Amino acid sequence: MGKDGSPKQYYQFDPKRNRLSWILGVSGLCILSYIMGAWKNTPAPNQSEVYTKVDCKPPSDMASSAIQSGFALDFQSHHQIDLNNSEGVQEFQPCDLKFSEYTPCQDPVRGRKFDRNMLKYRERHCPSKEEQLYCLIPAPPNYKAPFKWPQSRDYAWYDNIPHKELSIEKAIQNWIQVEGDRFRFPGGGTMFPRGADAYIDDINELIPLTNAMSFAPRDTHEAQVQFALERGVPAMIGIMASQRIPYPARAFDMAHCSRCLIPWHKFDGMYLIEVDRVLRPGGYWILSGPPIRWKKYWRGWERTQEDLKQEQDAIEDVATRICWKKVVEKDDLSIWQKPKNHMECIQNRQTFKTPHICQSDNPDMAWYQNMEKCITPLPEVTSADSVAGGALEKWPKRAFAVPPRISSGSIPSIDVEKFQKDNEIWRERIAYYKHLIPLAQGRYRNIIDMNSYLGGFAAALTKFPVWVMNVVPPNSDHDTLGAIYERGFIGTYHDWCEAFSTYPRTYDLIHASNVFSIYQDRCNVTHILLEMDRILRPEGTVIFRDTVELLVKVKSITDGMRWKSNIMDHESGPFNPEKILVAVKTYWTGEAKGDGLCSWTWIDHRDFISGNLDFGDKSIRTAHFGIARIEVQTKGIMTPETGSVSSHWLSHATPEPRLPNCRQSLGMIGRTFLFTTANAACTAVMF
Ligand SMILES: C[S@@+](CC[C@H](N)C(=O)[O-])C[C@H]1O[C@@H](n2cnc3c(N)ncnc32)[C@H](O)[C@@H]1O
Ligand SMILES: *[C@@H]1O[C@H](CO)[C@@H](O)[C@H](O)[C@H]1NC(C)=O
Ligand SMILES: *[C@@H]1O[C@H](CO)[C@@H](O)[C@H](O)[C@H]1NC(C)=O
Repeated sequence: MGKDGSPKQYYQFDPKRNRLSWILGVSGLCILSYIMGAWKNTPAPNQSEVYTKVDCKPPSDMASSAIQSGFALDFQSHHQIDLNNSEGVQEFQPCDLKFSEYTPCQDPVRGRKFDRNMLKYRERHCPSKEEQLYCLIPAPPNYKAPFKWPQSRDYAWYDNIPHKELSIEKAIQNWIQVEGDRFRFPGGGTMFPRGADAYIDDINELIPLTNAMSFAPRDTHEAQVQFALERGVPAMIGIMASQRIPYPARAFDMAHCSRCLIPWHKFDGMYLIEVDRVLRPGGYWILSGPPIRWKKYWRGWERTQEDLKQEQDAIEDVATRICWKKVVEKDDLSIWQKPKNHMECIQNRQTFKTPHICQSDNPDMAWYQNMEKCITPLPEVTSADSVAGGALEKWPKRAFAVPPRISSGSIPSIDVEKFQKDNEIWRERIAYYKHLIPLAQGRYRNIIDMNSYLGGFAAALTKFPVWVMNVVPPNSDHDTLGAIYERGFIGTYHDWCEAFSTYPRTYDLIHASNVFSIYQDRCNVTHILLEMDRILRPEGTVIFRDTVELLVKVKSITDGMRWKSNIMDHESGPFNPEKILVAVKTYWTGEAKGDGLCSWTWIDHRDFISGNLDFGDKSIRTAHFGIARIEVQTKGIMTPETGSVSSHWLSHATPEPRLPNCRQSLGMIGRTFLFTTANAACTAVMF
């Protein structure tokens, strides 16, 4: 990714920051769980600085002014196409406010219907055509434009993600605090008692650190992905369950998991085998949290030493069988390295009967594809010290070096010449975009390219302080995502006939180049546009490139979605049949109903043993919580709720029992019981 492009003015004062920008540049890093503070290597700006620097109102909006300006007129003077859309525009209505955080394919309510085995119910399960919403997802009342990067690393508006429970739940970890109207992120985390900065420094002492892409399921830590994106850090919803993670083979220089509690040692080591698939030759795997360093921490984890030792031994055994070398076990971290090639590993198969090396299978195929228990083969090499598939340049040279997948001719119909031409094209296009939208003014941070091809758009943006999620359609004849990763950028497979694995309002800029020519015959254009509206922030921008006929159709739909837009000429001039549509989503929010006040009483509780709880850690299932009865009184239009709470509430292994009408139970920290109802997050304290 282009994080190296953080503008000099942010970085010039602090030697540590200079180092970081270099470190970040090296290449891709997959964080299976979280290093939320990874980007927090700058001291928190003081309050007054935040107030003066951060303007919640939209800055003078170049994108909307471009829409009214000469670029559009130029187009209209040259074209006869009827742009009169005032007739028959269908106005889309806002959805109910309860959908303000709707993630269609990871809806916890829908998920309950599916198999709990291997957490399958938390994988993508998209609504059928009949179930799809046909309305606009509303922002919560009082939503404000997020803080600009880099302040966004340290601050987020409470009204944008109104979840108090997380700051209570995570209070002991010093990860997040509520300060008046905002959240502050001091840089802590479960595994980071000294702060994420120190943790990153620890890793960096052992191996050179790089930039990151994080994923986590929509679960009790749900807001972590939401917060990461709100803070301008790359992340998406995802899970290690039964299907491959949606990335190509050999994509990441490093994968990391801190207390993610994935059963690495189970299912014949399948999850480690999946990590091995996405790791580059010579890539690193870092694990911290249980069972690593159990000798020191076993008491706090509420597990027996034997149990933890057995788990660690099993992980070490799988790692050896898949030919990883243990690099180091130091303090809280364990690090393994994947071999540079499979020469030795193939010979090893005499010794280790399992896992086998997979026979026939496209290792990059990773869209609703089941994980396998066989080792993904690496491209063959001729000598023992060659890097399988070809060595990569160091970042930032890597971004423009010919990716080995292209120089080796492994992507049909794409060659070196096409790659170089593509870079040239995107350099020109970005130069043109700079006239249309405020690219250089720090207005955009999270960018998604819906149809990335060779990643040329992202590459041409490396000088800006932005990151780009490069999306490639799955199972295409020329799958380019592997090459995009070889350039040091991040991305995912995705089929735009379905909803993207993200929360609403997570992108500032959507780039949709020839998306509709690809999808118009496969699925409903209106549904794609509604999905784009969902993931776009209020006042966010969309750039479409397509034929004029398609853009006219798109515009006629988005006119009913509270977007302002205009069709403009191609950068090469008015005679190119491809045109550009620049659209801006206007600011609006949902309206608050009721005041969502909760109160509660505990009746007949007995035998509550709270112990030293670390919420999110499965070890709490060993604790015993007894039974309590809970009544929630509400004000406003909310329905009063009553129900029983049993120890099952806190067990991750059993179905989540719920209060009638209660949206979600969050569990318990010490004597504090947490749950949310339709309109409010509630906290009850046990006496
Ligand atoms: C205890 S949290 C650790 C968060 C962070 N590393 C910290 O120390 O604060 C564990 C994270 O792993 C994620 N996780 C748990 N099971 C997972 C799975 N099967 N696949 C992907 N992520 C998972 C959870 O969603 C959560 O974000
Ligand atoms: C545009 O549509 C409006 C409403 O139907 C109509 O009155 C007007 O004449 C149309 N203008 C053009 C240029 O077609
Ligand atoms: C797209 O879907 C909507 C509602 O689901 C429907 O009204 C519309 O006719 C569909 N459009 C096409 C072209 O099928």
